[in-house]
Amino acid sequence: MPKSVGLSKDKNWWRQAAIYQIYPRSFADSNGDGIGDLKGVTSRISYLKSLSLDAVWLSPFYPSALSDGGYDVADYRDVDPRLGTLADFDELLAELHKVGIRIFVDIVPNHSSNLHVWFKEAIEAQPGSKARNRYIFRDGKGENGELPPTDWVSHFAPSAWTHESVMGGKGNQWYMHWFAPEQPDFNWDNPEVEKEFLKTLEFWADRGVDGFRIDVAHALKKDLSEPLRSLPVFETLEERGNKGKGILADRDEVFKIYKQWRKLFNQYDPPRVAVAEAFVHPERLPLYASTKTLGQCFDFRFIETPFEAAAYKESVQDALELALKNKSSCTWTLSNHDQIRHATKMGLNSAVDRRSWMLSNGTSHPLDMASGTQNALAATLFILALPGSTYMYQGEELGLHEVTDIPASQIQDPQYLRNNKMDKGRDGCRVPLPWQKSGSSFGFGTGGAHLPQPSWFADYSVEAEENDPNSALSIYRIALGLRKSLITEEKIKWHKSGNSSVLHFSRPNGWHCITNFRGESYPMPKGEILISSHPLTDGKIPAGTTVWLKK
Ligand code: GLC
Ligand code: CA
Repeated sequence: MPKSVGLSKDKNWWRQAAIYQIYPRSFADSNGDGIGDLKGVTSRISYLKSLSLDAVWLSPFYPSALSDGGYDVADYRDVDPRLGTLADFDELLAELHKVGIRIFVDIVPNHSSNLHVWFKEAIEAQPGSKARNRYIFRDGKGENGELPPTDWVSHFAPSAWTHESVMGGKGNQWYMHWFAPEQPDFNWDNPEVEKEFLKTLEFWADRGVDGFRIDVAHALKKDLSEPLRSLPVFETLEERGNKGKGILADRDEVFKIYKQWRKLFNQYDPPRVAVAEAFVHPERLPLYASTKTLGQCFDFRFIETPFEAAAYKESVQDALELALKNKSSCTWTLSNHDQIRHATKMGLNSAVDRRSWMLSNGTSHPLDMASGTQNALAATLFILALPGSTYMYQGEELGLHEVTDIPASQIQDPQYLRNNKMDKGRDGCRVPLPWQKSGSSFGFGTGGAHLPQPSWFADYSVEAEENDPNSALSIYRIALGLRKSLITEEKIKWHKSGNSSVLHFSRPNGWHCITNFRGESYPMPKGEILISSHPLTDGKIPAGTTVWLKK
């Protein structure tokens, strides 16, 4: 077992943390049923420790019928029996804390599962009842109420309304769901819902959970005033703008909820922290990330920013300016469980339409896996050197690529199954991790894997990379370790590189970061080389490489 180091005493630990997202069903399987579980995570504490992490964030492990990978929660205060028990959770938390790693859990407040006891009650209840008022039930339109109440669209189905009969209701109402029909939206205008979530937050905070990732944090409050307004397509973030008056999302009233949550978080020592997933106009991000509300908000810009010097610089500048507007710090992220793995994006010609490419099982255009992984590492070292927190996704430390050829019959994601198969969905980044070069499911477990793993996973396994000093895993380990000792004031200074493909910035303590995005090798500036994401060529920085220097 790794040596016990305990948690740092720093109350601001979250401002510049390295946080690693675990998708529990696909991390490690302890009992050979093909599904990752909490004991599996506990069995890999040494591995997590080797990455010098400040925290891990666990995607939902709650009881769920998996209509949306666990983001359809049937009980917010329990563990899915397939993933373990509350005692297993307590053990995992204790073991993580012993090695100095904190833990975030995922809170999904916008919607529950249709199997949640409240929704089951609601379906059985009468229109206008207390039970129905916890969700959004309405009469339909048309002569006999046979049409949905509005034209609202859902992310995973054409309409955001489903007739209650689909879920076994005997009446003639419809209920609203912004995601799959198995994910009914709560009515956050009902104080009972507010109270219930405070209890859930307290439940986990009392168990010792350090932080919360808030799913779809922008959507809790909706304009439910009658008559309900029309919204036949998703508003773009620009359309919704910075007014705080969206119909289905980003309404100013949502901050009342988060101010209450903040009060609860601050009752703990150290205060509990939170990070919002909010797809809003960039100018609205500081409201979610304020220290009076959730404290931090994902900034997803690097997920779509092309790997180019000018675009990267603009993204950083923008985010730093926004962070100045509140007392929060920046967040950086390249991948998560909803995105095509960034090594793959960076190995694909940027002109390629990724949706069609995925639908062609990755065959319509060539993927350069080696250069994708190389660019991904350069991007990682770039964001790790910036002020703020970095959120990483399991497997990116192996330079892992998207699995593009999952057979249609094995796809689990509603984004594919419910959208007329117009989008391959997100399973390709959720394939169980390869720990070993061979064996059942590459060491994920002894009983296969719940999504098929391709043969090339062998080369990206922990075992294959562990002893190679140039592997993605080795670079992550060294960089994350160095970063811990280099963290300094939340400021950067840009230096002229004299080359439009090269960015050079430094932090106040003389920590320099130089990235060569493309083209000719770049002469090494003076200083002590701490790490290079890719071997140098004749002492120069090759394209697709980041170097850290100390001056
Ligand atoms: C968030 C999650 C995503 C899920 C959706 C609905 O965007 O990250 O995985 O499908 O919310 O809960
Ligand atoms: Ca298992």
